[in-house]
Amino acid sequence: MADLEELLRRRLAPAFEAVAGDPVDPAIRRSQHADYQSDAALALVRRIGGNPRDIAARVVERAELDDLCAKVEISGPGFINLTLADDALGRLLAEVAADERLGVRPVEAAETVTVDYSAPNAAKEMHVGHLRSTIIGDAVVRLLQWRGHTVIRQNHLGDWGTPFGMLVEHLLDIGEAEAAHELSVGDLNAFYQAARRKFDADESFQERSRRRVVLLQSGDEATLRLWQMLINESQKYFLAVYDLLGATLGPDDFFGESHYNDQLESVVDELADLGLLRDSEGAKCVFPAGYTGREGDPLPLIVRKSDGGFGYAATDLATIRHRLRKLHATRLLYVVGLPQQMHLGMVFQTAREAGWLAPPARAEHIGFGSVLGSDGKILRTRAGASVKLVDLLAEAVSRASAIIAEKNPDLDADTRAAVARAVGIGAVKYADLSTDRVKDYVFDYDRMLSFDGNTAPYLQYARARICSIFRRGGVEPPRDAGAPVLAEPAERALALQLLGFEGLIAEVSQNLEFHRLAQYLYGLASAFTSFYEKCPVLQAEGEVRTSRLVLCDLTARTLELGLGLLGIESPDQM
Ligand code: ARG
Repeated sequence: MADLEELLRRRLAPAFEAVAGDPVDPAIRRSQHADYQSDAALALVRRIGGNPRDIAARVVERAELDDLCAKVEISGPGFINLTLADDALGRLLAEVAADERLGVRPVEAAETVTVDYSAPNAAKEMHVGHLRSTIIGDAVVRLLQWRGHTVIRQNHLGDWGTPFGMLVEHLLDIGEAEAAHELSVGDLNAFYQAARRKFDADESFQERSRRRVVLLQSGDEATLRLWQMLINESQKYFLAVYDLLGATLGPDDFFGESHYNDQLESVVDELADLGLLRDSEGAKCVFPAGYTGREGDPLPLIVRKSDGGFGYAATDLATIRHRLRKLHATRLLYVVGLPQQMHLGMVFQTAREAGWLAPPARAEHIGFGSVLGSDGKILRTRAGASVKLVDLLAEAVSRASAIIAEKNPDLDADTRAAVARAVGIGAVKYADLSTDRVKDYVFDYDRMLSFDGNTAPYLQYARARICSIFRRGGVEPPRDAGAPVLAEPAERALALQLLGFEGLIAEVSQNLEFHRLAQYLYGLASAFTSFYEKCPVLQAEGEVRTSRLVLCDLTARTLELGLGLLGIESPDQM
């Protein structure tokens, strides 16, 4: 345990409790005047009266801080300022350095977590919204798995519903071989749009499509075979995108809408038995509490349409019930764009009212904003069609390759290709994950591939530079060197940043705000840069040299681990 904030909290909490008579959160935070400070004495006055400086003094008297702090001061109206002892920092760093997991233990209470993400629609191009979902969802999976949770990926593929009538008819029109060809080269949009055009223009095609939906839903074997072919080809294409992206999603993670078909009827029955269903204009609806329209009128979630069909909401109700009852998940995450916030909120509320979703289980919408082009509008190609994801990613890699070739012409071709991929894909992912996910962001190759600022290449380069220190010095990272000695302010600042990793990870595991992890890594790389400017490493001698090598090694490992949790690779040279 090397989480400084938590360590200080545990030392101060009993002292506060003794003084206040009740538990008190010491409210530890980083300080400009010392390393950390606690402001809790000020708020306590309202509860127990007296003078906050006296309260602070009584707390400090009782708190066991000698082995951790070099200086404990009461300042201003009653702040407790805490300056850590250099040898305590050294001891903690040694603990972290000796640990594969850099001091972050697996969680004590592991949970089963479902992560609903990526979820493109079959026989349609993935759009940038699906890219965001894939990038964020994958980071969620990596982080929570690493924390020790049982994580179940659920790629909620859009593979069912009325469009498949027209898609199967179009497939029959052009022939299976031609369809397979179009889909396998990833021309999903052309295929979809051709079907759509016919549907809009040709009444007999429309009629055929409607009959085909009925056949599909009634389980007609010939129709199912053609439908399956569409699904298989689409899945192959999506898997190629995941592969290029280095996402952990595989063929076994597809669990699309069609899987819930035979559960829809029973969802309706169960909701009806619970008295939650009401007729509204011929449709069967739930009116979940808390959702009202402009006039305060309750809003319906349509479970069964007036024509007897089931829609998106019915499938999501079956899905949440399945995840709770069959998968026994207690944390259900939905990595879906913000426009679906109300839909998901209504599904969650319905699940609560049905008694399916009850503590400790909870559902969370991990919402995100849009990806914009330089014109500030949703990113599209010049022709106005949505951007093809493979092209977008390939472009990032080829630009990275040009940059790497210029920066480091000595790299052999294979290494350069691998580095370009790590940098190009890393840049795309990092640009996404380093912005507060509820905000929109502008997709800008120049900025995301810049070696300056809060970007993947900057962090990757910082780590590669550390690798080169070890290469140049011909030294191995000192893994059992004991506690490093810290003398320079830049060393202390770096140490404090390194020791903040555990607490940061605990926080991000809860709020899944990956921009905080990004900000942390950026802060770490910056602290390292200042340290490296002021403190010679290879030219230093003896204990100082070893200590600085320990700091270098820990920085490199923390960057690698942190980037890895974001799904970003760390090349050893760039
Ligand atoms: N396929 C949907 C879309 O493209 C996203 C599905 C999200 N997940 C869910 N359980 N509704 O918008």
